[in-house]
Amino acid sequence: MRIAIYPGTFDPVTYGHLDVIARAADIFDKVIVGVAENSAKRPLFTDLERVQMIRAVVRKHPNVSVDSFQGLLVSYAKRKKATAIVRGLRAVSDFEYEFQMALTNRKLARGITTVFLMPHEEYTYLNSSIVREIALFGGDVSTFVPPEVRRMLARKVRAMNARA
Ligand code: COA
Repeated sequence: MRIAIYPGTFDPVTYGHLDVIARAADIFDKVIVGVAENSAKRPLFTDLERVQMIRAVVRKHPNVSVDSFQGLLVSYAKRKKATAIVRGLRAVSDFEYEFQMALTNRKLARGITTVFLMPHEEYTYLNSSIVREIALFGGDVSTFVPPEVRRMLARKVRAMNARA
């Protein structure tokens, strides 16, 4: 069985990520979306919220599961018996960082290969920070994220405004 990990921060998951997940689900027997708990970023959503959010939007893919992990990605991949790491390549600007990560991970774990998938060109400009910023300023994010994520963003913004 060919198992792949699709790791990321997913704060929040966008249509661009979902496009990569759908492509990976067509290629691999099993895809595990791995939400990074110890990201250098300070996420808006908790680990659990991000896992629940992704679960809600990948239901139509029976071979996709969602989990979170701490520590090194390759250690997590080994624990899950994955032989591939999936990453999305949106533009040339992604390349240098991805190249470094892929080669480092290969040095750390020879049996795990990084596979790059290109999301639909409609999503090449998209990232999670842009979506968060639009939502925080009350803009419409419906073309960037599924309705479930839009609702979670709206709830988060309301809670933050109530605290302020
Ligand atoms: N569509 C839309 N946006 C996308 C995207 C796509 N297809 N692919 C990436 N992005 C966005 C993300 O939303 C994110 O946006 P943001 O910076 O505004 O939040 C950005 O592009 C890149 O982030 P992401 O893909 O989430 O990856 P990451 O850089 O946050 O995550 C990890 C990197 C978690 C995979 C990496 O840090 C890791 O492996 N950590 C574990 C520790 C480890 O093993 N370190 C050694 C690695 S060599």
